[in-house]
Amino acid sequence: MQQRVLTGITTTGTPHLGNYVGAIRPAIKESRQSDNLSFYFLADFHALIKSREPQQVHQSSMEVAATWLALGLDTDNVVFYRQSDIPEIPELCWFLTCMAAKGLMNRAHAYKAAVDANEQGGEDPDFGVTMGLYSYPVLMAADILMFNATRVPVGKDQIQHVEMARDIAARFNHHYGEHFVLPEAVVDDHVAVLQGLDGRKMSKSYNNTIPLFLPEKQLKKHINKIKTNLLEPGEPKDPDSSTVFQVWQAFASPEQTDEMRQAFADGIAWGEAKKQLFELVNNEVSDARERYNELLQNPAHIEAVLKEGAEKARSYASPLLTKLRKAVGIHSFS
Ligand code: TRP
Repeated sequence: MQQRVLTGITTTGTPHLGNYVGAIRPAIKESRQSDNLSFYFLADFHALIKSREPQQVHQSSMEVAATWLALGLDTDNVVFYRQSDIPEIPELCWFLTCMAAKGLMNRAHAYKAAVDANEQGGEDPDFGVTMGLYSYPVLMAADILMFNATRVPVGKDQIQHVEMARDIAARFNHHYGEHFVLPEAVVDDHVAVLQGLDGRKMSKSYNNTIPLFLPEKQLKKHINKIKTNLLEPGEPKDPDSSTVFQVWQAFASPEQTDEMRQAFADGIAWGEAKKQLFELVNNEVSDARERYNELLQNPAHIEAVLKEGAEKARSYASPLLTKLRKAVGIHSFS
């Protein structure tokens, strides 16, 4: 059976090496397996939950779109669109909201984390919690169910949301008839979770990222900032506890990885290891960086690509929504 693969990217930041290695690179690879029908979208409605800076939301959407296009997403083969271009999604979101148990939402990790933090700080449990944050999983369920996606590639932190989408879909099906396929989360354990400058997981929230398309000089500077220890040149170094080595591994061939492992054992200087790392990473991203910068100079082109994607997406969403409206009892009188 043809799989429908779907995933969303929240547009709140500038894509970094961790996003590239953990999500973008595998997704683009997957998108080229022509037996699947893939949907990739900019989750800009979700961005509003995290960011109230219009300029940031807008800029990030454009950067994320340009990144995916620059890295060679084949938009003839996949459906690439902006969530906010699909009016069927918020409408479906409301149908699902009316089916989703509040108790289910109470258990969502992101909401619970906010409540826990408030309780620890002696605040009201719901302090600062918007309905957007609370209903986040319902909007995500609408994203997924709108296209009857079968496989949803996500990070571990999103598995619960996909399971909630299944629950909501099953409940809708039970009540209104079999309209939705139950989606499955796909977590690729082989994909590296990249460490950031300080050795923790590379993440915008830790402010320890290396943006993917930094100008060459700045990329070099960032790589030089990766935290190391005080071992001198000539002293053997442990690759497995080193962020430099970990990032190397995410970009290198198995042979190059073996060579670097040996170089660590032989006491390569940190400066030299970083220099080689810069060259390796720069080599992999430099062509795409050029295309990225060209694309950002030509927003009309990005817009046109997304509009075309939205049209394709709506050719799936709109007939399903017509059926769903009927199923819930909202349709023409005559
Ligand atoms: N919540 C996802 C994240 O933060 C982004 C997202 C929104 C998504 N809608 C989705 C992912 C639908 C998969 C399917 O990473």
